[in-house]
Amino acid sequence: MEAAVLMEREGRVAILTINRPDKANALNEQVRIETLAHLEAIQNDDSIGAVVVTGSGDKFFIAGADIKEFAGRSPFDQREAMRFPRVFDIMANFPKPVLAMINGFCLGGGCELAMSCDIRIASDKARLGQPEINLGLIPGGGGTQRLPRLVGSGNAMRLILSGDMVGAAEAQSMGLVDQVVAHDELRATTLALAEKIASKSPLTLRVAKEAIRASERLAIEEGILYERDLFCLCFSTEDKEEGVAAFLDKRKAEWKGR
Ligand code: COA
Repeated sequence: MEAAVLMEREGRVAILTINRPDKANALNEQVRIETLAHLEAIQNDDSIGAVVVTGSGDKFFIAGADIKEFAGRSPFDQREAMRFPRVFDIMANFPKPVLAMINGFCLGGGCELAMSCDIRIASDKARLGQPEINLGLIPGGGGTQRLPRLVGSGNAMRLILSGDMVGAAEAQSMGLVDQVVAHDELRATTLALAEKIASKSPLTLRVAKEAIRASERLAIEEGILYERDLFCLCFSTEDKEEGVAAFLDKRKAEWKGR
């Protein structure tokens, strides 16, 4: 059976490509299982500093869950299909930065996957949306929770209640994507950012991501206290000593991840 998720390496960056091009890279059980396996391997591999997720081909990032699997399915079967561990939550809390390289249609579960990533870079040809309403469904992979946090309640209502797609520029203007680039430059731009991030101390990246993720659940006063604790925790690392010494010595820091 052909792999539903491909993994390749570029320096310290792992690229995961959802590989169901004739099915718009729709997410099914095989994608779920293979993604979880790749993420576990990446988590345990110190030579990987960042992850990029994309879709195969030139047209689709991910056009959502595989709609074929929904036909005739009972609530219990659906619950089994959505059993823990949840891929989207793992990505959001993954100890290494995860970038979504949005190369085309980014719909439903595809949009939810992208929203679980830390940074979203989109091709100017990408189209994004939550069209579940057209199937008699609502988003089930975090869309009703992550979308309003990114774009505000009104924009989330508009997208989820209408099922309309938006182009990359509009998605950027509302905060759904962070950067839009010409389609042909998407890979180079995304990999350049991923490589730059992956060149930092993995330990510090992990703490920074954890602090930012905490802002999604904590009130501002608690978040600021939590940040202070994490900031002070950085003073226990060799990488803090190295970073400061390298600045003072006017040389490049060599991170140890300790
Ligand atoms: N699940 C399963 N198959 C899907 C799919 C999905 N979410 N999205 C697309 N496909 C399949 C199509 O059925 C088609 O397969 P076929 O050639 O065997 O018929 C193939 O992928 C290509 O899609 P197609 O619809 O022919 O391309 P298009 O350019 O005309 O339209 C989209 C592209 C993305 C607008 C359209 O495919 C679409 O609306 N997809 C569903 C999006 C959706 O509702 N996602 C939420 C799911 S919860």
